[in-house]
Amino acid sequence: MQLPDEAITYQYQNLLVPAAEPWGPAAELRTQHLLPASRLKALIPQLLQVRSQVAIERDLKQIPPELQPLEAGFIDLPQHTLEQHRRKGEASPLGRVIQTAQRLRDQVDLVVVLGVGGSSLGARALFGALRSTYHNELAPAARQQRPRIYFEGDAFDNDSLQDLVELLQATCVDPEIRNERWGAVVISKSGETLEPAVAYRVLRREAAEFYGTRSPRLRQLIVPVTGSTGRLRDLCRADDYAHEDVLNIPDNVGGRFSVFTAAGLLPAAILGLDVRALLLGAQAMTQRFFDEPFERNPVLQLAAVNYLMSEEIGKSTRVLAVWSKKLEWLGRWYDHLVAESLGKRGRGPTPLVTVPTRDLHSRVQQHQEGAADKIINNVLVRVPRSAPITVGMADRNEDGLNALSRKTLPELAETAWETTSRAYFEAARPSADLIVPLLSEHTMGQLMQLLMLATVVEARLLGTNPYGQPALDAYKQAMQSGRSPAEQRNG
Ligand code: PA5
Repeated sequence: MQLPDEAITYQYQNLLVPAAEPWGPAAELRTQHLLPASRLKALIPQLLQVRSQVAIERDLKQIPPELQPLEAGFIDLPQHTLEQHRRKGEASPLGRVIQTAQRLRDQVDLVVVLGVGGSSLGARALFGALRSTYHNELAPAARQQRPRIYFEGDAFDNDSLQDLVELLQATCVDPEIRNERWGAVVISKSGETLEPAVAYRVLRREAAEFYGTRSPRLRQLIVPVTGSTGRLRDLCRADDYAHEDVLNIPDNVGGRFSVFTAAGLLPAAILGLDVRALLLGAQAMTQRFFDEPFERNPVLQLAAVNYLMSEEIGKSTRVLAVWSKKLEWLGRWYDHLVAESLGKRGRGPTPLVTVPTRDLHSRVQQHQEGAADKIINNVLVRVPRSAPITVGMADRNEDGLNALSRKTLPELAETAWETTSRAYFEAARPSADLIVPLLSEHTMGQLMQLLMLATVVEARLLGTNPYGQPALDAYKQAMQSGRSPAEQRNG
């Protein structure tokens, strides 16, 4: 199932206090700011207890009040989704995702994905990681007819939405030509979130003008993805959508944990990604989490190291340094996951995403010499997706690069990582590495499931419920009427 050379590992030796280091000011600093190996070892029994607790929680039929809300469905979702697909084929949730994606790929050249938070970021992370950076700029044939995808509905941003409407109006002129047709996927688990709802209303209007108010294409090319209840579901009923044409986000899967529901899988399948491989990767990580001892278990390691760093060593800022611009949206997705799952009861680390080497030019100064409140988790992709580019020889050597002519970009990136990791260690700034062998559906499945599981484990160590987001729900509730506080006060 999982190729050994595709397995993700977490290497954290660089942030442990070195054993028997001769005394000196730098060594002293390291004893203060790095993690004693003994402390990590002492946490293992508690970690294993938490793992058993998580295993029990996922099977609970009756949820005791102290565990509510409990949205642990994401843990076994990859396995269940694959099993159902094997048994029921096209009639299974994954079968419907694949069919719907195929329909959109056949009929349109552009898809707008409307959604925010968990209903957008997972799909963006997959798009960023696994498709060409310039996918949307490529000609249809170069994209193998996979539609361009644009993300909207994640803010009340007038100009951005208007830009999209203008793009549609300028490039989609004749609805009888496939390459000028557009579709949309509107995603909202609650079906109540105002940002995507407003954008959907605007695009429905555009679509009705483009295709005609009674055109069957409206239902064929606009696909809703939502939970079992809510205004979006009500709207779909009113629009005469067949039940099976509205893709479901299961009730027991929380928004930021929903990337392996239709919320992430449909956009991924529209882009032609291998969604089964994605799920297999996630399933393999769940299995590793439950079966492997601490020494081979990246979920337990990541949760434990980061928990101790923020709770006991004072590293309240958690940097995810993704050493590939292709993972920038994965970083944003993780930021959301950590902020909303752990930021409760006056506790929880503050996540921060950086993209070296680009952001070394803005942040390394602070990370190395600023407030010593950070742990840096690098995400390193070992092998690039495309053949390594070499610097090469040139007639004009004023830039002095001929000395590096045989070097490749991955080699230069590796040197930069080694240099910064060494400097962090010297300055007693803790850093560790999540090693991703290569970017593929299988490794992205592993990585995202790893990060979700580790967040749940960490929350349980903190005594925090990772699920639910009361402050966000209050914001959404307050926004429901769309009226400002002053308007509300005046009745
Ligand atoms: O993690 C969460 O639940 C939230 O961040 C949601 O994903 C976000 O608010 C979007 O919610 P919905 O999918 O209900 O529109």
